[in-house]
Amino acid sequence: MYDYTPEAINSRLTTHTLGRRIELYRQAGSTNDLVRAAAQRGEAEGLVILAEEQVAGRGRLGRRWVAPPGCCVLCSILLRPRFSPQEAFYITISAAVAIYRTLKALDPVAGGGFAPTIKWSNDVLLNGRKVAGILSESEFSGRDWAFSVLGFGINVNIERAQFGELQDVATSLSGEMGHEVDRVGVLTRVLSELESLYLLLQGGQFGQVYAEWIGALETIGRRVSIIEPSASDDNGKVARVEGTALRVDPDGALVVLTEAGVERRVLAGDVLPR
Ligand code: BTN
Repeated sequence: MYDYTPEAINSRLTTHTLGRRIELYRQAGSTNDLVRAAAQRGEAEGLVILAEEQVAGRGRLGRRWVAPPGCCVLCSILLRPRFSPQEAFYITISAAVAIYRTLKALDPVAGGGFAPTIKWSNDVLLNGRKVAGILSESEFSGRDWAFSVLGFGINVNIERAQFGELQDVATSLSGEMGHEVDRVGVLTRVLSELESLYLLLQGGQFGQVYAEWIGALETIGRRVSIIEPSASDDNGKVARVEGTALRVDPDGALVVLTEAGVERRVLAGDVLPR
């Protein structure tokens, strides 16, 4: 059983800002909400809030994020970006790239065992199944940032049977590696990768982060079927966009060439297997 305490994390942290102040709760509602409240109190950038269990964990598109207690990395980080709020999308993709890099580094047979990818927009997959999800939420003051909360959940030590009906679409690090995985090692690596990517963003260097994200994206060139959360068809049913994923626009929208030969831009949604 590996230790997962602020002291253990601190002793292995190599960052300058991210995680220099850590709070770890045995149980929380949502760590994103705790960081938001801390930001509103004026807490400095880099605060990391972790939970062993969330009773109101949130996922993308208004969904719940459920994880068994004591086995995952459930983390939210307070950021105070200096770049334009129009580039908010880069915060989420930098987290996806940081987790992707961490998985590559964990690969038990150096390039042979793990095949991490990113599924548009920001699900991190391991050998084709979701291992991590990201939810960034920002507040603005006029045209400027007030702050951004970057939350992510990584399935670390979950047994296959625990996924129940999600077994075919979700996985964990221990499930792929066949043994328990040290959460401190995973978290400290993600924070270190994230800090270097975030520094690039703060310096206006978006291209490098974008290129790495695109390189890891498994969606381009694929036939896709996307549920658009906010759109509905004439009968009030949730709208689906089907076709081939062509590219991602600079704002993160996925451009899909539909069967009718029309290009459709999708800003948010879920890519389903076709
Ligand atoms: C997704 O739907 O894929 C995003 C999931 C994000 C979950 C993380 S867990 C830590 C943080 N707190 C939350 O309530 N959500 C995020």
